This record gives sequence, C-alpha cells and structure tokens, in this order.
Amino acid sequence: MTVHIGPLAPGHAGEVMTIQRAAYLAEARRYGAWELPPLVETVEEIRKHVESGMPALGAWDGHRLVGSVRGKVDGARMEVARLAVAPDQQGRGLGRRLLEAVCALAPDEVVWLFTGAESDENLRLYESAGFVKSGEHFDAVGIRCVTLEKKVA
Ligand SMILES: CC(C)(COP(=O)(O)OP(=O)(O)OC[C@H]1O[C@@H](n2cnc3c(N)ncnc32)[C@H](O)[C@@H]1OP(=O)(O)O)[C@@H](O)C(=O)NCCC(=O)NCCS
Repeated sequence: MTVHIGPLAPGHAGEVMTIQRAAYLAEARRYGAWELPPLVETVEEIRKHVESGMPALGAWDGHRLVGSVRGKVDGARMEVARLAVAPDQQGRGLGRRLLEAVCALAPDEVVWLFTGAESDENLRLYESAGFVKSGEHFDAVGIRCVTLEKKVA
C-alpha cells in the first residue's frame, strides 16, 4: 500500500510516542543512554507541540502510523526534531520523505538539526538531503552531537 504523509492531529500523540520510543531505542542502545529526550517525552508534551501549530507530520500506511517528524520554528529558523520511522518500516525511503516534507514547511532561511556524532546512517541521510555540518556539542546526557543545517530559499 502507498504510504501517505500528512499533518498530525493532537489525537495522534499516543501513536507518535509509540513510534518514537520504538525507533529511538536503537539510538539509546548505540550510546548506552536510556533517557534520550525522544524516549522520555510524554504524550501530553507531544500533544502540546502538535496543538501549538508548529510543523508536525505523520506517515500512514493505511490506518497505521509508521513515522513522524516535528519542526520547532524560531523566527526564520526551524529545527527538525523527532524524525522517527517504525523499526519494521525503516529502509523504505520514509525517513527521507518525512524530512523533505517537514523542510517544505519551514519559514524562509535555515533548517537545522542535530544527531549523535556516531550515528553514521543518520549523518548520511542528512548530508545526502543537502545538510552541512555546522558545529558540535555535548547534549544534556553527555553524547557528542553534530549540528547540521541547510538554507531554504
Ligand atoms: C533515521 C530514520 C528516521 C531514517 O528513516 P528510514 O525510513 O529508515 O530512512 P530511509 O529509508 O528514508 O533511508 C534514507 C537514509 O537513511 C539512512 N538510514 C538511517 N537509518 C536507517 C535504517 N535503520 N535503515 C536504512 N537506512 C537508514 C540511510 O543512510 C539511508 O540512506 P541510503 O538510502 O542512501 O542508504 C530511522 O532510521 C529512525 O527512525 N531511526 C531511529 C531514530 C533516529 O535516529 N532519528 C533521527 C535522529 S537525528
């Protein structure tokens, strides 16, 4: 079945939490860090983000939510956050489609994001989508992260 991408509604928050927790478990295992923000985010926090009107997209295979992504807009810049695809649906191009779709909702100027410095597959995805490394930092749980950004016209 074709997967369609569309806006998330507040009522999808529970399913989004499930997808995030399943997907980010691989990152938690990679870094031995079980308190990653996407793993501990509550349904209420996700619902509030969606209700705020910030970009929030889901990917549906029939009635099943199989992926999601959200944007955090701050002036002319947007952070891409919480990109997640259900583990059994990864490698089908859905992550790339969600990334492109959320970038299309950004205000003009810069889209940025960060990922773990050892997350080679993620870095490959972002660099092949036109993102360029712009910095490094340690996150709240001590993981070395790379920031990438891309200009949007
Ligand atoms: C990152 C993620 C959203 C990619 O989604 P996906 O649907 O598997 O990605 P796609 O099928 O669109 O593949 C695009 C690229 O993603 C990369 N990739 C990242 N994780 C991958 C995975 N588990 N399986 C296959 N490709 C993956 C590959 O480099 C691939 O590039 P290629 O086609 O040149 O090989 C998904 O793997 C995921 O949910 N990971 C866990 C959560 C996470 O790390 N999110 C990003 C945080 S910054």
